[in-house]
Amino acid sequence: MLGKDQPINLNLLELPFGLKALTGVAAELDDCAFPLLKNITCTSDAAVAFKDADVAMLIGAMPRGPGMDRSDLIQANGPIFQAQGQAINDHAKKTVQVVVVGNPANTNCMIANHWAPDVPATQFTALTKLDHNRSLAQLVAKIGGGVEDYKNFAIWGNHSDTMYPDTTNCTFNGKAVTKLCSSTWVNDWFTPKVQTRGGEIIALRGQSSAASAGNAAMDHIREWNDGTTNWTSMAVVSNGEYGVPKGLVFSFPVTTKNGSWKIVKGLKFTEDGKAALKATISELLSEQAAVSHLLE
Ligand code: LMR
Repeated sequence: MLGKDQPINLNLLELPFGLKALTGVAAELDDCAFPLLKNITCTSDAAVAFKDADVAMLIGAMPRGPGMDRSDLIQANGPIFQAQGQAINDHAKKTVQVVVVGNPANTNCMIANHWAPDVPATQFTALTKLDHNRSLAQLVAKIGGGVEDYKNFAIWGNHSDTMYPDTTNCTFNGKAVTKLCSSTWVNDWFTPKVQTRGGEIIALRGQSSAASAGNAAMDHIREWNDGTTNWTSMAVVSNGEYGVPKGLVFSFPVTTKNGSWKIVKGLKFTEDGKAALKATISELLSEQAAVSHLLE
C-alpha cells in the first residue's frame, strides 16, 4: 500500500504495472485540487480499498477494444465484480453508494449486489448518466439551446446498444421535443446514435471513453447526494417496476433527494417504446443467464 505522503524514495519500476499506473492516477487526482480530497491510498488489496467506504466507483474492468462485443467482456469481468461485491459487503459502510462503470455495467452491478447481501440493494447502481448526457448533447445539436433547457428525458434499460433513449416526455423550454423533431429523426438517427456512441468513441480513440465516462460518474454521485430538480437516469436494482423482472439492474428515470433515489412512476410508452423496453429486458435476461454461475 502506498500512502500519499510516502512516494519520495519509491523505485516505481519495481512496482507491478497496475500499482505503478495507479500512482499516476493519484498524481492526477492531486492535480485536480478537489476541495474534498484529503488523502489518497493506492492499493491492490480490496479489504483496504473498501474499508469504511461511503462511495465506491467500480471502474476496474477489462475494457472493450475495437471490434469487441460487450458480450466478450461478460465472462472476463464477472468474477472481478463477485470479488468486489464480497469486499464491499465485508469492509464498506452499509450505507455505501456504489456505481458500476466497468462493462457490462448493469450485469456487473447485479453480480456485485448479489455478493453483498448485508448492503441494501438500493445502494448498488450502474452508470447510464453517460448515455443521458450523450442524448442531451445530441438534442442540443439538433434543436438548439443548452442542456439545461431539456427536462424529463430518460434512458431505459441496459448500458448497451439496446438501451432506450426516451424522448416521449422530454421538453425543451416547456415545448414537447417530439413536436420539435420528426419521429424519423428520433428513430433512425438519434436513437442509434446514442445507443452506439460508446462504440463510436472506441473507433475514434482506439480506446473506450475516458473523460466523458469519468465526468458522468461524478455527475451520478453528485446528483445522488445533492438531489435533482429534474429527472436523471440511473441503472438500479429492479423491484418489478414497469414490468422489469426483479433483480435486473435496469436504467430508469429517477429523481434524488437526501442521498436516496426514486423511480419516476406512472409513465406511458409509445408502441416503439414498448418494443424497445422488451428488447433491452431480453438482452439483460440473457446476460443474467450467461453469468448464472456467479449468482448462485
Ligand atoms: C461507453 O459507453 O463509452 C463505454 O461503455 C463503451 C465500452 O463498451 O467501453
